[in-house]
Amino acid sequence: MRELILSPSILGADYLRLGEQLQILDEAGAQYVHIDVMDGIFVPSISMGMPVIKSLRGGTNRVFDVHLMITEPARYAKEFAEAGADIVTFHYEACQDPWGTIRAFRETGVKVGLAVKPKTDVGVLYPFMRDIDMALVMTVEPGFGGQKMIPETLDKVRTLYQWCRENRVDANIQVDGGITLDNFGEAIYAGANILVAGTAVFRGDIRYNTRRFLMIEQEIEKGE
Ligand code: DX5
Ligand code: ZN
Repeated sequence: MRELILSPSILGADYLRLGEQLQILDEAGAQYVHIDVMDGIFVPSISMGMPVIKSLRGGTNRVFDVHLMITEPARYAKEFAEAGADIVTFHYEACQDPWGTIRAFRETGVKVGLAVKPKTDVGVLYPFMRDIDMALVMTVEPGFGGQKMIPETLDKVRTLYQWCRENRVDANIQVDGGITLDNFGEAIYAGANILVAGTAVFRGDIRYNTRRFLMIEQEIEKGE
């Protein structure tokens, strides 16, 4: 079985206390840190960029899982790698040349993820699955934290997971958007193994929420 990984999205954090909250995630055992980069063009909102990633890099050794919601992301491949990204995920819908974009990121030494929005056919990912490290199936429309998961998106996860099994591709599948303690088990059973959660980790007690996620992950892993 693929490893189950929690990737808390710092879009849900209190930016005044970002360093401190990162420390709490680290101590509680979250394996990744999900960093949402928005450009105000591919998505309506603007979030954070390289300087924030660079600063946070000094505070933790956890895997930086950078989700780019920006148009033509290859333009910034070198900058994100240098800022400290470990995995960079970009959107299929955001670039003219996905193959060239994969290559541009690969050349910088980072791992590469490819994302699709809820309305994009998951089949567009198939040709890339052997050349990427992770597929991200968005479970909300990208752009904002705190939305409700769109249940039909889990059918896409199921379809992709099934395709991977049939084609003997051992891929990481990430889900992002509206993931909570109540629904993330369902996402895992659909075939996801990397779970992004913003609001569900940062609202209330961050340490407690993180540990709950990790505990349930362990129970699911044991039950397999
Ligand atoms: C949405 C972002 C998500 C978001 C998740 O565009 O990609 O990573 O921060 O936040 P929640 O878990 O609150 O939906
Ligand atoms: Zn994200």
